[in-house]
Amino acid sequence: MEKIKVGIVNVTGYAGIELARLLVRHPAARLVSVTGRSSAGQKLADVFPHMTGAADLIIESELSDVDFAFVAMPHKESALEVMKLIERGIKVVDISADFRLSNPEDYNEWYGFTHPSPELLDKAVYGLPELYRKDIESANLVANPGCYPTAAILAMAPAVKQGIISEDIIIDSKSGLSGAGRTLTTVSHYSEANENTAAYALKGHRHLPEIVQELTYLNGETVNVTFVPHIVPMTRGILSTCYAALREEFVEKEDIQVEINAIYKEFYKDAPFVKVVDNPPHTKNVWGSNMCHIYPFVDTRTGRLIVISCIDNLVKGAAGQAIQNMNIMSGFAETAGLEAPPIYP
Ligand SMILES: NC(=O)c1ccc[n+]([C@@H]2O[C@H](COP(=O)([O-])OP(=O)(O)OC[C@H]3O[C@@H](n4cnc5c(N)ncnc54)[C@H](OP(=O)(O)O)[C@@H]3O)[C@@H](O)[C@H]2O)c1
Repeated sequence: MEKIKVGIVNVTGYAGIELARLLVRHPAARLVSVTGRSSAGQKLADVFPHMTGAADLIIESELSDVDFAFVAMPHKESALEVMKLIERGIKVVDISADFRLSNPEDYNEWYGFTHPSPELLDKAVYGLPELYRKDIESANLVANPGCYPTAAILAMAPAVKQGIISEDIIIDSKSGLSGAGRTLTTVSHYSEANENTAAYALKGHRHLPEIVQELTYLNGETVNVTFVPHIVPMTRGILSTCYAALREEFVEKEDIQVEINAIYKEFYKDAPFVKVVDNPPHTKNVWGSNMCHIYPFVDTRTGRLIVISCIDNLVKGAAGQAIQNMNIMSGFAETAGLEAPPIYP
């Protein structure tokens, strides 16, 4: 079978270069074009020496002829690139937030810009394959979920869908620094971040409306989410611990832990990248892979369900999930190019 020609807009960010690392080994796609702003004209392997011998590409300022594109630009800029590509008839997975929220007004409120293409928002499919695999198959534009939302929604979706918890959900998330991107800020400066941990965005992180939107769609009931993200001094990984009160009829059940384990395993039985695990997961157990590990635990003392999930923010939280979406959109095996197990230790 002839490979499809794929391209990456903005290979110079963390999400973009992670896409390149994974795509050069894809069995059905050939990476033929990558773009970047400051490093246009340079060899990819000169800018990113870890790609030496993996791809003989020059970073361009515009994508050349491709069948499929990934856009990994900062929000607002991404939408403009996506619009041009869709116009050219090219299928796109957008890694930014620009097509994730269905209400255009949310972009004014949460991202501070007026969406340039509200009509495309209606056509974009939210790219969480575990929830929307069928819709993704026929989509031309997929909005890749955010990294925090991927971990949080996968953790809570089975419980919300089955109606076993009340609508009040607390999501406490820890992220490695690559989640903040490659551009250096005081927050990500080594001497500020090393040996340090802090919560941020308590008034409302931009990923909050995305989490609320998707959990609400699951059974139509509006969820009330408290989301507190933290930065921890590691490079990759997100660990989310989610809490919600069990509904009364479930608290009283004697075998509720067994029942909830069965609900979670059934929900993800056809999901190759989600594993319901028997012990609290570690970010290291998924590092460098497209896996999400989920551990549901019933705290019988308080009547709460605690669900812990973890992903690699650059793989299942960005580039890996984007390739999973391309696979589904292109009729390839869902796992193609993503089979490598996590890196350990
Ligand atoms: N990092 C993650 O874990 C993650 C996860 C999920 C989704 N995302 C999303 O993926 C997108 C890229 O994120 P990232 O973390 O890869 O970003 P990043 O590492 O911060 O990369 C941003 C790059 O974009 C370029 N850039 C910045 N402003 C630009 C502009 N106005 N026009 C053209 N290029 C510009 C810069 O490259 P030059 O050197 O060329 O200027 C910079 O290296 C964002 O929308 C982000 O929200 C990221």
